[in-house]
Amino acid sequence: MGSTNNTRLQILRILKENEGSFVSGADLAKRQSISRPGVWKHINKLKEMGYQIQSQSKLGYRLEGVPDSLAVEEIVPNLKTEWLAHSYHHLATVASTNDYALLLATRAAPHGTLVVAEEQTKGRGRLNREWVSYPSRGIYLSILLRDHLPLHIAPQSTYIGSLALVKVLREELGITASIKWPNDVLINGRKTAGILTETQSDQDSTRFSIMGIGINVNHSREEMAGPFRYPATSIAMELGFAVKRQKVLLKFLCQFEQDYNRFIQKGLSDLIPEIEAHSEILGKIIKVICGDREIIGRAQGLTPEGALLLLGADGSREIIWAGDVTRIEGAV
Ligand code: BTN
Repeated sequence: MGSTNNTRLQILRILKENEGSFVSGADLAKRQSISRPGVWKHINKLKEMGYQIQSQSKLGYRLEGVPDSLAVEEIVPNLKTEWLAHSYHHLATVASTNDYALLLATRAAPHGTLVVAEEQTKGRGRLNREWVSYPSRGIYLSILLRDHLPLHIAPQSTYIGSLALVKVLREELGITASIKWPNDVLINGRKTAGILTETQSDQDSTRFSIMGIGINVNHSREEMAGPFRYPATSIAMELGFAVKRQKVLLKFLCQFEQDYNRFIQKGLSDLIPEIEAHSEILGKIIKVICGDREIIGRAQGLTPEGALLLLGADGSREIIWAGDVTRIEGAV
């Protein structure tokens, strides 16, 4: 982070520590070893970013409101992670955070680099579908993961994203969210988040993976009306009020790091009971599209590697490694 940004962060920190009271320009200038016009420039930049700051001659500056932005100013000082998102890239707009993370990966960005955007103009979903990314409503992020995983293990990491998010929605917001195998997050049967993991590999193992996650947070009913392939919803629609995206992101990053560490140390099998406990489909009759095959059966469970066990009407058992669940018994 540049020194200009650092000074801005420090000024913001001081204003936050004194929330409700004025801090004089002279005091800020002295504490940051900059001139008073220098302070004024930083204050103006913060105002442009959406911070409500009251300026009064003789008294100085008073912080009166913080925007719901995912800017470095709001996230990095509050991060409780050991390695995730310490390299933090916040963009106002980008084609796709996955593409941007790929670019950073080729420029030696470290493990755990996080790219998050307020808006995507070409957000992508699985199977080259569009991911609609309304400005400042959702969380559109990509995580660069540099563990060299055997090729058959790499796809399992995607579960960590959906599991971590479901736990945050349940534990922090009291929402009964669930996982639609393999990696969608549903609330009341409607999709609220999806994951797209893209990997670059050598012959036997991955060079790096980019896990892209799109979360519908404060989207309105109109914005979620479609046309989507699967009924869609947002956290705000389900709760009936808007939530701070900052809080969701910070909690998610913590949970993701914990679950990802477990995955690397103990393997996916250690997390399977939790993934199953939060499954939307277990015990239900579902339709799965696998390439050009359509399979209908009862979802019985997951293998230790995360493949789906399906029981057909004729009693046949099938293990499905990848597919798209398009219908769930009793769903919306
Ligand atoms: C899906 O459900 O099909 C996956 C959706 C993944 C969307 C996210 S948003 C952030 C990241 N950047 C992208 O272009 N896509 C992923």
